[in-house]
Amino acid sequence: MSVTFQDLLDRAGRLAAGGRRAALGITGPPGAGKTTLAEALVGALGADVAHVPMDGFHLADAELDRLGLRRRKGAPETFDPWGYAALLRRFREGTDEIVYAPGFERTLEQPIAGAIPVPRSTRLVVSEGNYLLLDEPRWTAVRSLFDEVWYVDLDPAERIRRLVRRHVRFGKDQAAAVAWVAGTDERNASRVAATRDRADLIVVSADPLE
Ligand SMILES: Nc1ncnc2c1ncn2[C@@H]1O[C@H](COP(=O)(O)OP(=O)(O)O)[C@@H](O)[C@H]1O
Ligand SMILES: [Mg+2]
Repeated sequence: MSVTFQDLLDRAGRLAAGGRRAALGITGPPGAGKTTLAEALVGALGADVAHVPMDGFHLADAELDRLGLRRRKGAPETFDPWGYAALLRRFREGTDEIVYAPGFERTLEQPIAGAIPVPRSTRLVVSEGNYLLLDEPRWTAVRSLFDEVWYVDLDPAERIRRLVRRHVRFGKDQAAAVAWVAGTDERNASRVAATRDRADLIVVSADPLE
């Protein structure tokens, strides 16, 4: 039995209606549709729900160069999981008038500080990214700060097609896009796939959105 978008909306709505501010995580491999689903949920739930991508915690290119990790951009070690966990803790505490989350600019491929305002009135934070369920010491604090984590899955052939198209849309030529997806993205995808059974809910991407 597959879940419908309305089921997801109802489930997220219940989290938003709880007594305290809640955090919903959406994970899954690159190109599965995490960002698209988060945007659809937040758009349908309306005010008091914020979308905060894990992508804002990409390390800057200058730091990746210093670490010698530029070519692995997108792998777990090219993010700042402690910063991400600290942001999720600030959401949970709910004391600051506004929490500014970093965004990620896809053409520059760089994080941008101060991009996403999350006011104290926010009842639900929807955050999405590849490594929310990673069973590695750096990442386990992140999982503990979500009320639920959903895993978005998609047939690999279709997922790869969408991913190549997205890279081309943001400036790579076709050959570079195919090579990047086959190498870096798919290595990352298999690390994400290993976390699938830790999710609270599996969402097959094609079901709710098409
Ligand atoms: N239902 C869909 N049909 C076709 N393309 C889609 C659909 N959902 C998402 N996409 C496209 O697929 C690509 C990957 O989706 P995205 O939400 O960016 O995935 P993720 O955040 O998991 O990497 C994007 O370019 C998006 O526009
Ligand atoms: Mg995304």
